[in-house]
Amino acid sequence: MKTVKNFRLSGKKVIIRCDFNVPIEDGKIVDDNRIVESLQTIKYCIEKGAKVILLSHLGRVKEKEDLKKNDLKVVAKRLSKLLDREVKFINKTRGNSVEKEIASLNNGDVVLLQNTRYEDLDGKKESSNDEELGKYWASLGDIFINDAFGTCHRAHASNVGIASNIKNKGIGFLIEKELNALSSLKRPSKPFIIILGGAKVSDKIGVIEKLVKKADYILIGGGMAFTFLASEGFNIGSSILDKDNIDFCKKIISEYEDKIILPVDILTNTSYMDTNSPKERLICDIGEDEMGLDVGPKTVDLFKKYLSDAKTVLWNGPLGVCEFDSFKNGTYEVLNYLVDNDIKTIVGGGDTAAVATQANLKDKLYHVSTGGGATLEYLEGKKLPGIEVME
Ligand code: 3PG
Repeated sequence: MKTVKNFRLSGKKVIIRCDFNVPIEDGKIVDDNRIVESLQTIKYCIEKGAKVILLSHLGRVKEKEDLKKNDLKVVAKRLSKLLDREVKFINKTRGNSVEKEIASLNNGDVVLLQNTRYEDLDGKKESSNDEELGKYWASLGDIFINDAFGTCHRAHASNVGIASNIKNKGIGFLIEKELNALSSLKRPSKPFIIILGGAKVSDKIGVIEKLVKKADYILIGGGMAFTFLASEGFNIGSSILDKDNIDFCKKIISEYEDKIILPVDILTNTSYMDTNSPKERLICDIGEDEMGLDVGPKTVDLFKKYLSDAKTVLWNGPLGVCEFDSFKNGTYEVLNYLVDNDIKTIVGGGDTAAVATQANLKDKLYHVSTGGGATLEYLEGKKLPGIEVME
């Protein structure tokens, strides 16, 4: 697989597919991590004298009302700031104005086209990898660089479509870094411990099935822990339950009893909201009207004990509801423990990556993936179409 370094870029029109799908609230970017992680490839292309054409999706566009909140203009502004140079925003995904702007680019100039998913309004052209659209976008450049790791599990026109219609193609630094870090989990130094959290068991079944044999322990927290606890016969009150997967939890526990480590205590509230007075409960003591929203201090100690001699840790999913101050402690404490003890930790993207960034610990961890679904699918051993097409 070629990388951006394999091309002579000077004077060439280089299309870079980035994943600028960042969280935006009230028109403001609340976490620009994915933009920051894209900078290395963009800067490299600028320095080498390329004419840089950036493409990305943002959110999902199903109806006209989705257009405004998924306008990429705000990303162009942030990118300009981060690059300290103008990033010209073209408020179109195709047509005369796009072609004219690209034709007038000088070496080192950067443009960002409007959200590729604006094309979904008219027959899902981007998401269904419309043949004509992929060809059109490919025709805008001389070289295609895919650097949108978070989108590699999708076969869309702006990644697979372009790559299938252009000769010169390669991956950027971000995808290269992701593949190096995640592939190191094929033969992890042992003890290898997986921490899983988040709301649903269903999201993690693939990863558990794929990695349970390889892992020494899987520590389970977050909402998904309650389905495991319920499968063991504990009363979980009004905590979240993934009914369809109780049998899966039972089966995994019975097959790998010594490897699956569940919480021994939790913090609760009577509804899904923050509180100044969370209740600490042993798992055999959860009230009928109580909802578990974080792991408790005994569980944190237990998890630390398992982690104390870990050589590799993979973490996907927070251990509690980190949006609530009283229920973020479990996740923060375990994250800090991993950093303080210099344990090689790979964070599998999504919500856990956001927590690591908020806690200012991201740069101290071995790798924090920019992918959510893409990372999980990679770890499940599935082929990622956005990578395959580059090979
Ligand atoms: C992500 O956030 O996981 C990627 O940007 C892909 O977004 P999607 O799930 O909307 O395709």
